[in-house]
Amino acid sequence: MKARLGNKMVKKHSMNPFNHDIPANREEMVNIHFNGEWVEVPKGLNVVEVAKSFGEFIPHYCYHPKLSISGNCRMCLFEMGMPKRDPERKPIIDKNGKPELMWIPKPQIGCATPVTEGMGVRTDSPLAKECRKAIMEFLLINHPLDCPICDQAGECKLQEYSTEYGSGESRFVEDKVKKPKNVDLGERIVLDDERCVLCTRCVRFANEVVNDDILGIVNRGSYNAIAAHEGQRFDNPYSLNTVDICPVGALTSKDFRFKMRVWFLKETKSVCSGCGTGCNITVGSRQDTVYRFTPRSNDAVNSHWMCDKGRLGFHYLQDEKRITEPHMGKGKLRFITTWEQIYLEIGKQIKKFKGEEIAIIASARMTNEELFLLKTWADELSVVFMDVISRPQEGDNFLRSQDCNSNTLGATMTGVSNRGKNLKKILKGVRDGSIKCMIAWQEDLTEAGFVSQDLEKLDFLITASILKNTTSDLASFVLPVAGFVEKRGTMINVHSRLQRLNKAVAVPGKGKEDWEVLCRLREVTGCGNGVHSFDDLFQSMVKNLKPLKGLNWGKITDLGLDIKIY
Ligand code: SF4
Ligand code: SF4
Ligand code: FES
Repeated sequence: MKARLGNKMVKKHSMNPFNHDIPANREEMVNIHFNGEWVEVPKGLNVVEVAKSFGEFIPHYCYHPKLSISGNCRMCLFEMGMPKRDPERKPIIDKNGKPELMWIPKPQIGCATPVTEGMGVRTDSPLAKECRKAIMEFLLINHPLDCPICDQAGECKLQEYSTEYGSGESRFVEDKVKKPKNVDLGERIVLDDERCVLCTRCVRFANEVVNDDILGIVNRGSYNAIAAHEGQRFDNPYSLNTVDICPVGALTSKDFRFKMRVWFLKETKSVCSGCGTGCNITVGSRQDTVYRFTPRSNDAVNSHWMCDKGRLGFHYLQDEKRITEPHMGKGKLRFITTWEQIYLEIGKQIKKFKGEEIAIIASARMTNEELFLLKTWADELSVVFMDVISRPQEGDNFLRSQDCNSNTLGATMTGVSNRGKNLKKILKGVRDGSIKCMIAWQEDLTEAGFVSQDLEKLDFLITASILKNTTSDLASFVLPVAGFVEKRGTMINVHSRLQRLNKAVAVPGKGKEDWEVLCRLREVTGCGNGVHSFDDLFQSMVKNLKPLKGLNWGKITDLGLDIKIY
């Protein structure tokens, strides 16, 4: 079966073509002798994964749990033993009732060796250690250790392993082979071939995970180099995943390179809000500026991957159109004001309208907590018309969802969404003058079919917005609110998985988190409150919404939780 990925038709595939880190059958166990002790482990896992499960790390470059095994870097060597057998091929049992082992003098690669009954594994023997040292010396023959200038410093396996497992000196006195540098591989990727250890992870990712057979190894011997097919570019919509999985600094992201040393970055676990998939991410920020997103592994959502669009989807928060101060007044009479003044003025004005004269258009990209609070306020004001704007897009059968909103199910669960049915009624109401007051929360109303004349007709237009747009230009009150990395909250992805967003950076300028603004608006409009912190709000939401009953923040965990909405 074929599906569209970017501008290409590709074979339909699963998100994880390989799952070497997950045992095929957890019930089927084998006994192995691991670093001096007999232990029981799931059959079929390879030695790298088994070692990991005991907290022992076997260094590796080419092995990746979600790619095929290529076994070409030889870094994961270990010493292997097999049960001694008698002439009838039966294992010889020692006085402790365990098989006697015969250690093979030649090391084996852990990534390509699944554990079997009676196998012996030594990851820390003199032979294993000596072999690692030799491989490091071999890898560094032509490879520069240019860490002070390399953008991968701090995350480079070559740097780490050369310190931990290398010898500290080279016997290679000849000139090093100098491979291509600064190769413009694609729209978002630069390749420094001389740093490449030829692990082929990038080649296998492109080929196996996104079915784009564009990368390969060219030339021979020590002149081997990674290259894209002649005349083609590596512009796949998932290309930046290769930067994450490249174990050295050979592939770098044009967007991130030379912007920040990784050890300065604060890491915050969160979720991408670029579409309904909700890929798990780590936000890298420093001093309230976001520098990068990287995928956080979650087999229930995005495996180890995310799309390039989502990865670069934070720049809009730093756009020059960002609204950082509350404004009120229209046209030339528009002025920057304080939060207190704007709240009091909204409080005064909104009471003049009846519930059926007010309409609210919210965003299905808001968090559940914000949507819940907005719906509570709407009910208190007896608002009749409320809805969200849907954003369908062409999904790609891999990660990108057909729903470009990140929390459509949250908007449904909280009752804010009427699946677009109310949008037409609201537009009609504005045009015939029955709707006089409109609240647009994190949405530009032109996306719902409103034109400037419609918005100008309203007596009163409030918008909570991140960026300047037509709605904010025409609103009587503009409230600067938070982007998805600037707040805590939860969202529900298209597969009904409840996931947590965490605050990575502060809201810029005088902007505030949406829930705080909504709480205050409830107060000034005489609706009461009782919500004084995010935790209060979360608990109130959990108490009132059936699908969330019994949950607490901790139960959701970093990897999210499947819930039932219907
Ligand atoms: S560019 Fe990186 S991922 Fe690709 S083969 Fe070289 S070292 Fe491996
Ligand atoms: S697939 Fe969607 S959720 Fe995942 S990274 Fe891309 S835009 Fe973000
Ligand atoms: S990780 Fe096993 S050979 Fe590369």
